[in-house]
Amino acid sequence: MILVIHAHPYPRSSRSTAALLGAVRDLPELEVRSLYDLYPDFDVDAGAERAALERSGLVVWLHPIYWYTVPALLKQWFEVVLAKGWAYGEGGTALQGKECLWAVTTGADEDAYTEQGKHAHDFSAFAPVVKQTARFCGMRWHEPFVLHGAHIVTEPQLAAAAARLRERLERWAAQRQAR
Ligand SMILES: Cc1cc2nc3c(=O)[nH]c(=O)nc-3n(C[C@H](O)[C@H](O)[C@H](O)COP(=O)(O)O)c2cc1C
Repeated sequence: MILVIHAHPYPRSSRSTAALLGAVRDLPELEVRSLYDLYPDFDVDAGAERAALERSGLVVWLHPIYWYTVPALLKQWFEVVLAKGWAYGEGGTALQGKECLWAVTTGADEDAYTEQGKHAHDFSAFAPVVKQTARFCGMRWHEPFVLHGAHIVTEPQLAAAAARLRERLERWAAQRQAR
């Protein structure tokens, strides 16, 4: 099962993340958990989230980039769900061997994520904290899916990006079945 943890603080005004989600949500064996709908008061149900994670083989963290990282509720989700004795530490093996795809949109375009650009670093410089969170829990990290320039991409570009994400998930599911 593919588990999409969707974390958009304003899902109703989302364009790009909504397009990515819309492109994958009808895939078979895929479950979506939209954190800001489920937990508007940030009271994350760790048991429900862990049960969903246990059912999954691939976890997708899908969200817009906020201040170079995950939106606040996904950070809260990390803190509450990925507990010692379950996700890491002694007996904490629940996520061992599961796979993880970080799928994000950024407001800034690719040029902004260069040494000379507004954000002064390649976007990959902002990945290690999230990547290590996954790896600390024994998850296998996939090459992130990044859509830059979320507000300026044209509709065809957005549709193409959404199709690319769908293809990645379909490929994962096909390879998983073949194993
Ligand atoms: C509080 C806040 C922080 C943001 N931080 C960043 C950032 O660090 N880097 C960036 O490229 N875009 C940043 N953005 C822009 C969002 O990433 C962008 O609006 C989003 O990816 C668009 O996706 P959507 O159409 O699904 O809302 C930020 C936006 C907000 C509201």
